[in-house]
Amino acid sequence: MTKHNDQIPDPDRDPKTVTLKDTARDGSVPNELPHHTKLLDRHGIIERNATLLLVFSFLVVTIGGIVEIAPLFWLENTIEEVEGVRPYSPLELAGRDIYIREGCYNCHSQMIRPMHDEVERYGHYSLAAESMYDHPHQWGSKRTGPDVARVGGRYSDEWHVDHLVDPQSVVPESIMPKYDYLARTRITPEHIESLLRTHAFVGVPYTEEMIENAAADFRVQVEPFGDWDGLLERYPGAQVRNFDGQPELTEMDALIAYLQMLGTLVDFSTFTADDSR
Ligand code: HEC
Repeated sequence: MTKHNDQIPDPDRDPKTVTLKDTARDGSVPNELPHHTKLLDRHGIIERNATLLLVFSFLVVTIGGIVEIAPLFWLENTIEEVEGVRPYSPLELAGRDIYIREGCYNCHSQMIRPMHDEVERYGHYSLAAESMYDHPHQWGSKRTGPDVARVGGRYSDEWHVDHLVDPQSVVPESIMPKYDYLARTRITPEHIESLLRTHAFVGVPYTEEMIENAAADFRVQVEPFGDWDGLLERYPGAQVRNFDGQPELTEMDALIAYLQMLGTLVDFSTFTADDSR
């Protein structure tokens, strides 16, 4: 520890240096680190040499980068799997397409951030797994209206019909536009197989069986007296009923089926975040 070189002055011989030792003697304030921290002085060599500093910074960033990035090449999935999360049923998926087509995302986000005020207002913060089958995701950042990530089950189907047909009839101060034509627009499962196939193509685990049954599943979800056992087997927890109260299958049915399932797949009374990963 007593080895000094020319660059680093010996604090013991420097009259401007006051150490703890002197403090005890004459009550002055120390302005120098104790001698056993001399190692830090060596850092001064790097600080005074820009090239050396650059080389070492580069090394540190490289090592840090490799540690952070390299594992991602071997991990198949970085999303924690959560029980209950399943791909959308054909009707819900069609509803989701209507949601996107109508630009609902321009005013509504679908991501509850883990901040106290948000959790108080909207419920449990959103999990990555809850939007793992969303292509594209609907997180958004614009909230002209409220976040709808957990709107499922918050209102009755009738409320949604009234609200979508004429928002001001249920929330007088609302600035949400009317979507009454959805209730008058019939919807058929004409393209539903292709829709599922497209989502399967980008990684959603739709099986051949799901794709083959897509049109039937699409129709049966609004038939409370239909044979929907197969639907529930393929899409556990899917809600089966006439969503818009009309005999016809309309875009309103699909959109409400989608809204009513948002955020309902994970049972948060039993869910615990896995902190070990
Ligand atoms: C111009 C912005 C705007 C657009 C576009 C919009 N909304 Fe809204 N939405 C609002 C506002 C503001 C509210 C809050 C007042 C109200 O309840 O009407 C709201 C409320 C809602 C609610 C009730 C949420 C809650 O927790 O109370 C739902 C559900 C909803 N909107 C669905 C939709 C759907 C579905 C679409 C697309 C078909 C849509 N919105 C398009 C602005 C918008």
